[in-house]
Amino acid sequence: MRIKRRTKRFFKRVLIAIPILLLCAFLYQLLRRPSSAPPSKITVAMTPERIERGQYLFVTLLDCDGCHSERDFSRLGGPVIAAGRGQGRMLPLEGLPGQVNAPNITPDKETGIGGWTDGEKIRAIREGISKDGHMLFPLMPYPGLRYLSEVDVQALVAYMNTLPAIRNYVPRSNITFFVGMMVKGVPEPVVRPIPPVDPDGGEIYGEYLVSIAGCEECHTPQKRGQADASMRYAGGRVFTLPQGTVLSANITPDKDTGIGKWDFIRFRDRMRSFRQYKETELPKVGPERFTLMPFLAYTKLTDHDLEAMFLYIESRRAIEHFVVPHPGHAEIKD
Ligand code: HEC
Ligand code: HEC
Repeated sequence: MRIKRRTKRFFKRVLIAIPILLLCAFLYQLLRRPSSAPPSKITVAMTPERIERGQYLFVTLLDCDGCHSERDFSRLGGPVIAAGRGQGRMLPLEGLPGQVNAPNITPDKETGIGGWTDGEKIRAIREGISKDGHMLFPLMPYPGLRYLSEVDVQALVAYMNTLPAIRNYVPRSNITFFVGMMVKGVPEPVVRPIPPVDPDGGEIYGEYLVSIAGCEECHTPQKRGQADASMRYAGGRVFTLPQGTVLSANITPDKDTGIGKWDFIRFRDRMRSFRQYKETELPKVGPERFTLMPFLAYTKLTDHDLEAMFLYIESRRAIEHFVVPHPGHAEIKD
């Protein structure tokens, strides 16, 4: 009898405690501020080597153009319109929580980031905090860019400083209340200087390149809006574009459903498969012919970098996961 009453009381308490705990968690999430640190006071050196490295990072490996530049979406791969490089735009991806806009990141003082210090630019790129301290929605790929070494992030900023200033006002993103609250934990200060990674480090250099390029982000399927950690690189993340739906490919070393049977040459040629098109003669985009993979940017990836990436990807866990990137349509193959 007594035990029964005690158990009852216990469960009653638990029942009362649950909503209280949930309310506390909600209030914590509502009131917490994204973690951030003051920007560094650095002014980047504008040497020709740095600017050249920065251009390779911006245009080729990290494809900042993908979101921040004006592009011709009527043609395959959406080639960049050079006169609109960095000017920002509204993003047409569907399924986003609200209107997400990629800001103008040219040195225009009023509508771009011309009034920012180099330290503030570095903080935005690696830590997801804007000049005024508000957090950036993590479609901006700072969770991967946070691994950028000091030399590389400085090179990137040096190149961005050389972009022609473009006057183009882009309204601030408008993220739905609930999602805005849930992503507050994403920004994280980079507390220690990040040393350069030895370009001759093979697989380790490959890991560096793949991390900053965000391959994993796109090539890992999502479960309830979060990357499914048990399916890293296994593909199947769904992207809905105005032309239709495309799924990322399985790039794990699985022999049947991934790229396990590929040798380096095949990987290299696939990554640079858009080399077959002249920039000015890219075919028209249509429901049967479009992609989200930055194939166009990657045409300029060096053999050296591709080799390192391949070594790293090959060393990942093989996951059996059959994906058809373009359901209902023939694949765009090389
Ligand atoms: C997948 C799309 C995407 C890519 C790729 C991308 N960005 Fe962004 N970026 C965004 C979005 C979206 C925002 C704004 C987020 C928001 O409004 O909360 C942003 C914000 C920024 C900001 C802050 C600007 C401001 O006014 O607050 C900077 C600086 C920036 N990006 C630089 C870069 C650089 C450099 C690269 C390449 C290394 C890059 N971005 C790649 C989407 C992208
Ligand atoms: C913005 C998202 C995105 C990023 C970033 C991205 N991919 Fe992809 N990738 C895709 C999508 C989507 C496909 C399917 C493309 C298609 O068929 O149109 C794909 C296809 C591929 C393929 C072709 C696979 C096959 O079976 O033919 C390879 C290889 C690949 N990606 C490797 C990479 C690597 C390596 C990186 C990083 C350097 C990377 N991807 C970055 C989205 C992305």
